Amino acid sequence: MTHSTINPAVLYWGTPVVLVTTVNPDGSSNIGPMSSAFWIGNRCILGLGTSSQTTQNLLRTKECVLNLPSDDMGDAVNNLAYTTGTEIIPEYKIARGYRYEKDKWTAAQLTPQGSEKVAPPRVQNCPVQMEAAYRGTYEMLGGAVQVIEVEVLQTHVDNTLRLEGYANRVDPDAWRPMIMSFQHLYGLRHGEVVRSELARIDEEQLRV
Ligand SMILES: Cc1cc2nc3c(=O)[nH]c(=O)nc-3n(C[C@H](O)[C@H](O)[C@H](O)COP(=O)(O)O)c2cc1C
Repeated sequence: MTHSTINPAVLYWGTPVVLVTTVNPDGSSNIGPMSSAFWIGNRCILGLGTSSQTTQNLLRTKECVLNLPSDDMGDAVNNLAYTTGTEIIPEYKIARGYRYEKDKWTAAQLTPQGSEKVAPPRVQNCPVQMEAAYRGTYEMLGGAVQVIEVEVLQTHVDNTLRLEGYANRVDPDAWRPMIMSFQHLYGLRHGEVVRSELARIDEEQLRV
């Protein structure tokens, strides 16, 4: 390999897209697309712009649903791009062409589905839905970004994703997440590239 030293503006190497649903102050619900998320145990860490409606709702209500779209849900994700649930749009978003969207469900042609443990609805169209509760925040970039820890309380998966013979496992061959890589949307269409040594550890040993 021959390397060049570069200075990338962003370091979006590829993470799954998450549609975060939260409840607005008037009782309606919001959908915020994001992808700065990672998972450890039953916790998820979300990197969210402080001014976003999703952030404000999550900090106020302490609840959300993390809905994972599959890689064929590009239209819904694109319909949500350039929208915000905040009536007063920050200058940097105005400059990028964002608009206020009160009804993200209609804008994205997505269907709400009642949750069981939290108030925000699930996105019925997403094959993975995780009901979650706020557990803590850490500020980044001078307060412009909130790193929010949530605990997943309940996970719902489409039956086609379940690994046969197991009560609680997902079949990685069936799960096709949408991955955002440097603002572009990708899938994992080519299947497993190599047998994973890590996967020799029984998944149940990882439960917290
Ligand atoms: C695919 C995709 C990924 C995004 N990832 C993030 C992210 O990780 N963090 C973030 O703060 N905003 C992210 N955004 C931008 C937010 O969606 C944007 O700030 C939006 O206005 C939030 O909506 P809300 O204000 O209604 O919460 C992403 C947008 C798209 C379309």
